[in-house]
Amino acid sequence: MRYMSDDHTHVQEFFAARAADWDSRFPDDGPAYTAAVAELGLREGDRVLDAGCGTGRALPPLRAAVGASGVVVGADLTPAMLQAAVRAGRDRDGRLLLADVAALPVRSGALDAVFAAGLIAHLPRPAENLRELARVVRPGGVLALFHPIGRAALAARQGRQITPDDLRAESNLRPLLAASGWRMTSYVDRDDRFLALAVRAD
Ligand SMILES: C[S@@+](CC[C@H](N)C(=O)[O-])C[C@H]1O[C@@H](n2cnc3c(N)ncnc32)[C@H](O)[C@@H]1O
Repeated sequence: MRYMSDDHTHVQEFFAARAADWDSRFPDDGPAYTAAVAELGLREGDRVLDAGCGTGRALPPLRAAVGASGVVVGADLTPAMLQAAVRAGRDRDGRLLLADVAALPVRSGALDAVFAAGLIAHLPRPAENLRELARVVRPGGVLALFHPIGRAALAARQGRQITPDDLRAESNLRPLLAASGWRMTSYVDRDDRFLALAVRAD
């Protein structure tokens, strides 16, 4: 438990310091989020979770995809990010939950899809956490792991090199997803998009 709470403190401190100007740092990402959400193939009335929703940048396109009869939930561990989401009015597009993706307050199989932007690199136990995401999705439901910048461009922006153990490398991500209840169906890693799609295995 102590390890868990240390993980949380680190993530919360990191993102709390960035919450207030998160959206203004990346003002042109909107269309990339809309295009990524479109790849989930959501239908009117579907139920979707934005895991690690942050300031809720994906919530408007998710709501547009499922319509008024659908369910949109945004879950995040960092109160300051959720507060920024409320200030931006994104709570109009989805219900916001202060929650850890390691233990979601969501019934098994309740959802049609999970969208997760910029999340997995921050997870201390990715296999376990991806399994929890699989738990809340119905068989055949879909997962999108998205980032509006590819791995190489992100590494360059952060002044580091990509190492072979990078979780999001296709050769690492495919088996990780397979071991966590997902089957990867597509993988794109180019400068303007990282997007891995997976289907919940039976
Ligand atoms: C890089 S930000 C991305 C935010 C948002 N998805 C976006 O694309 O703008 C990662 C977010 O994941 C959240 N996060 C990290 N670990 C989490 C966890 N275990 N459970 C829920 N949220 C988590 C952080 O608080 C942060 O808001």
